[in-house]
Amino acid sequence: MTTPEHHWWANALVYQVYVRSFADANGDGVGDLEGLRQRLDHLDSLGVDAIWLNPCYPSPQHDHGYDVANYFDIHDEYGNLDTFDAFLADARAHGMKVLMDLVPNHCSSDHAWFRAALAAAPGSAERARFYFRDGTMSDCGSDPHGNPPNNWMAAFGGSAWNRVGGTDPQWYLATFTPHQPDFDHTNDDVQAMFAEVFEFWFDRGVEGFRVDAIAPVGKHPDLPDQPPVPEGTGMLQITWENEYTVFRPEGHDVWRRFRSTIDAYQQRHPGRDLMMVAEAYMNGRPELLADFVNDEQFHQAFAFDLMLSPWVESELEKAIGDTLDILRRGFVPTWTLNNHDVQRVVTRLGREAAADPSSATTNALEVDTSAVTLDIGLRRARALISLAMAMPGSLYLYQGEELGLPEVLDIPDDRRQDPVFHRTHGARIGRDGCRVPIPWTSDPTSAFGFSKVGPGEHAPDPWLPQPSWWGDLAITAVDGDDTSTLELYRAVIAARREHATPQGMHGAVIDLGPGLVAVRRADLVAIVNVTNAPIALDLSDPHLEIAMPVFASEPTEMHTPGVIPPNSTIWMLS
Ligand code: GLC
Repeated sequence: MTTPEHHWWANALVYQVYVRSFADANGDGVGDLEGLRQRLDHLDSLGVDAIWLNPCYPSPQHDHGYDVANYFDIHDEYGNLDTFDAFLADARAHGMKVLMDLVPNHCSSDHAWFRAALAAAPGSAERARFYFRDGTMSDCGSDPHGNPPNNWMAAFGGSAWNRVGGTDPQWYLATFTPHQPDFDHTNDDVQAMFAEVFEFWFDRGVEGFRVDAIAPVGKHPDLPDQPPVPEGTGMLQITWENEYTVFRPEGHDVWRRFRSTIDAYQQRHPGRDLMMVAEAYMNGRPELLADFVNDEQFHQAFAFDLMLSPWVESELEKAIGDTLDILRRGFVPTWTLNNHDVQRVVTRLGREAAADPSSATTNALEVDTSAVTLDIGLRRARALISLAMAMPGSLYLYQGEELGLPEVLDIPDDRRQDPVFHRTHGARIGRDGCRVPIPWTSDPTSAFGFSKVGPGEHAPDPWLPQPSWWGDLAITAVDGDDTSTLELYRAVIAARREHATPQGMHGAVIDLGPGLVAVRRADLVAIVNVTNAPIALDLSDPHLEIAMPVFASEPTEMHTPGVIPPNSTIWMLS
């Protein structure tokens, strides 16, 4: 069994930057790497250990970078390799490591290999890098290739197969959108290219990768029809029920190859400490997670359990217990409450349905639409991050959560960008609402400080519109205000360093009574009151004996010792 505790990532705080929406240095309404470089002080003031960049490779942006046209360069709206190098050097000077995002399941339909494949004949070496298959007889019998090769559905709506066109008998497989053709990882060229991708970015100083959408990588070689799904399965959930393309044994071969590329590089560069973290929704399946996180595959895998849990005592306890389970196997949990694919936690936990156990979901795109009370959502979000910060393992933050930003729900349809919205013809709202450019200042003429503009100039409308009230949540508006969420983040991050990280890799859910969710680390107990009323702790409980409060998510409401305000968290140290 390994002891991963000594790795930099074991207790790391990683800040996710959605480059397009973080900071725009050239005033074109789209974020860029120079904007990020100029704002590193903000990340410094939070005290993060590393930055994960969403994909910033050249891309036609049909899925905002998750459609990569070239894995060895930088998207021109974001800069170029020189701006990337300058950003990375500055991040390092601030003591922060940089993780990139690797997209192995598919590339962009603009990738040179895919264009070559379309131009080449069926059966060619060019097509063998992807999944091209002949179509089947059309329903009316008039076209021998008029129906797709099988019944697989795309994760963002519609069929997973797309006809090449003209007289070509073939179709190609694209698990997400037609702009994202799936690679066949049994192909030698594909394997060689991904090995080169690792080397290329490691040589530039990147310390690891978040690996995108690992679930559909590797398919059953015969591509059989998907069996019928249970009635009531959400339209975007159908793909994830497909046993012939989700969590396949063939995928593990890919991860083992990736890991040996990383390990070989590491051996040649002993001073480096490289890693990869898997993105896959394996909620409530700790045994599955363990299949991917081990010495031959991923160093870490996101645990999305806590992120998608309803605000219900038993559900939260299960989510935490399942996530902590990985400690028993000698690996470290990887917590997160937000990312660029899910509704922001403030909105999620402010929904009427949040306290309903049946609102549990594993698919963040099947979004709940019940009414939202933001005050409650914000309190719960503050409580939940205060719990997550007390945990063993690493924690990934998503830009803007430190400001308590809610999801922007009222983006006009004609400004929506997410293919999820368009591919489902508006039936699913999609993910734009968590990607709205960050408010840095209260000044609307600079898109609230997002875009850099000269004196007297007016910034263009950013790529996604910001609400008029966005400036009230800006960094400059809340900086130094002790009641702000920004100051809560700074305080809880400091508390984590002082009281939580020194507790070592231990953690277990304990029972302190109804309405309370509690986790014990060696000498530290973090307790959340998940109800809407104050709860007095039983201070004679053996877990709380001689314990002193050292942190509270709502410090101004801590009037009576041992009483936890509603929807809030405290830490007790003995
Ligand atoms: C992952 C990404 C998401 C993207 C999808 C397809 O889930 O996080 O943003 O759309 O994969 O690459």
